[in-house]
Amino acid sequence: MSDKKKIAIFASGNGSNFEAIARACQQDRINAEVVICVCDHPGAYVTERAKRLEIPVLELRPKSYPSKADYEKVILEALKKHEVEFIVLAGYMRIIGDVLLNEYTNKIVNIHPSLLPAFPGVDAIGQALNYGVKVFGVTVHFVDHTLDGGKIISQAAIPYDGNDREELEAMVHAREHVLYISTLRSLLN
Ligand code: GRF
Repeated sequence: MSDKKKIAIFASGNGSNFEAIARACQQDRINAEVVICVCDHPGAYVTERAKRLEIPVLELRPKSYPSKADYEKVILEALKKHEVEFIVLAGYMRIIGDVLLNEYTNKIVNIHPSLLPAFPGVDAIGQALNYGVKVFGVTVHFVDHTLDGGKIISQAAIPYDGNDREELEAMVHAREHVLYISTLRSLLN
């Protein structure tokens, strides 16, 4: 029997981190198998990436459920069916609620494009640029009830003294992929 950890990746949009991690798993650079992609924006580009990589996708419209708990119960059922042991958030633009947190305590991680605790929440890169910082960065952390406030697992700093958002975003994303893969490798191997 394979000793690979079965993981789910949750994403809402582009999915570049999803693809980097899924490929690393398929190439045995992480001792895990991505058994499901959960997406809260049906039709988001991440779903195409998943289909190309032959990873099952669960697409949901959160607004069509009476509550967050009802929405998460549907996800939990799918995770159980796929025997998911660990959850990786990669650009999932939604706060995780009690249903999933209670079932996967300390087994959910997220990546955030800033050096937390600086600039939590949406548009961290824009927040940091507006603030005028000279060292940007990325953080991988455990997920708890707080907004981007769970225990920090790893960070990488990105010195940048320019004002070109596109250039900076490309640097941040490239660094995210490297940091997320190496962090998951240590957590899951
Ligand atoms: C990343 O910057 C990640 O840190 C943030 O959302 C973005 C997702 O990018 N949480 P992608 O969808 O993986 O390309």
